Amino acid sequence: MEDDDRRMLWDENSGWWTGKYTTREDPDYQDIVLPFIGDVFLGAERVIDLGGGEGRLSRYLMDKNKCEVVCVDFSHRQLGTGYLKDFGPSYVQSDIARLPFEAGVFDSAVACLVFEHALELLETIEEASRVLRPDGKFVIVLNHPAMQTPESGFVFDHEVDPPSKYWRISDYLVEVSHSEEVEKGIFLPFEHRPISKYINSLIEAGFTIERLYEPPISDRYVEVNPEFSNVRYIPRLLLIVCSN
Ligand SMILES: C[S@@+](CC[C@H](N)C(=O)[O-])C[C@H]1O[C@@H](n2cnc3c(N)ncnc32)[C@H](O)[C@@H]1O
Repeated sequence: MEDDDRRMLWDENSGWWTGKYTTREDPDYQDIVLPFIGDVFLGAERVIDLGGGEGRLSRYLMDKNKCEVVCVDFSHRQLGTGYLKDFGPSYVQSDIARLPFEAGVFDSAVACLVFEHALELLETIEEASRVLRPDGKFVIVLNHPAMQTPESGFVFDHEVDPPSKYWRISDYLVEVSHSEEVEKGIFLPFEHRPISKYINSLIEAGFTIERLYEPPISDRYVEVNPEFSNVRYIPRLLLIVCSN
């Protein structure tokens, strides 16, 4: 699928993303992802939110860190909804692999739940490096690539007593583009890559990896989704902190 088709898919599904997905209770995003990025960006003055969608992270950072945030996304529908909610951040329509900014104009960059949908990984990471100043911070949040391999998911084993539940991991090492029905009738484009691909691309673009974080599922997530109670130590997220 070409980038234009991907953008159109995000435009088409933007009503679902902004009206249904981001408005539901999401404790891992609210309790883990947002505070983690807020803490890493303490003291930041100018942040670029790559693939920022309707800007929920941009608005959080502006509010918590009192910094300037530029939310960049290729879907005008995602950005338009964000603008109507709050015109605090600047909303810029662009492909994140080709940013319309001069070199070194941001001190911090974040790509939150974006790379698993983006086609051009190395180009985008190189662009992040270009627009960041030399000691700038870059945070990447991913649905954990090992656990979110296509066709991974719960398997119920009724052959054992008591019946058991496993998390199946499929062909983790195979890089693949696929379209996934995330909810009935809602198809989104996904790019599966192993973790080494992300780390090696960051190194190739000149970033220094500072920290990896694989949080367990939060207490509140299990309250909202009780079916996850016995798989809470199977990570759903991978957060990477690097510097330029
Ligand atoms: C899962 S959403 C995440 C949105 C936001 N970062 C958040 O945390 O709510 C992924 C976003 O990435 C955007 N996106 C995907 N590929 C892109 C690209 N090549 N250039 C710009 N935006 C892109 C989509 O339009 C979508 O808004």
